Amino acid sequence: MALFETIAIAFWAMLPAYVPNNAAVLAGGGRPIDGGRTWGDRRVLGDGKTWRGTAMGTVAGLALAAALTYIAPDAGDVLGFAVPEFTPLAALGLAGGAMLGDILASFLKRRSGRQRGAMFPGLDQLDFVVVSLPLTALLATDWFRAWFSLEVILVVVVLTPILHATTNVIAYKLGLKNEPW
Ligand code: CTP
Ligand code: MG
Repeated sequence: MALFETIAIAFWAMLPAYVPNNAAVLAGGGRPIDGGRTWGDRRVLGDGKTWRGTAMGTVAGLALAAALTYIAPDAGDVLGFAVPEFTPLAALGLAGGAMLGDILASFLKRRSGRQRGAMFPGLDQLDFVVVSLPLTALLATDWFRAWFSLEVILVVVVLTPILHATTNVIAYKLGLKNEPW
């Protein structure tokens, strides 16, 4: 597979997992998922993980997957190679997994004594990949096998931290996020 094709497929396939975190930043707020509860002397998740942000993030990822599925045949014609159409379960695995990974990361941050907004290099960049890929493989096994070749997964692991860093710096400069990570 040509490198450009691999990168395009990796990016396209991961878009429903990339968008939820950004949508949560825009739509977040309100009641925290952990309801303010603590474990030991620390919050379970913290005020940065809210019901509204999680729901809106997941919905945004699902909506994007539907839109991409709609335009996939035309995009494939233009590009000269097929790009993924998302099954509902694949979309749910990617979008829901991204939100779940982010929540899990906050849990680990709080357990390790990091305050809300603290940096956790590595985890911040890949938390959503670590959960969304296995969850998608579980929920939509055939779809996952068809699109996520080893090369595509490798590109995702390299591409994601770069995209993550770029979008977060932009969100920070626009005043949407409190920290640039
Ligand atoms: N957000 C939300 N619900 C989520 C994820 C994010 O409401 N499930 C919103 C919150 O307003 C949050 C912002 O998006 O403050 C930025 O997200 P993130 O950087 O993931 O959270 P932090 O505030 O940095 O908190 P943490 O240290 O727990 O990651
Ligand atoms: Mg943060």
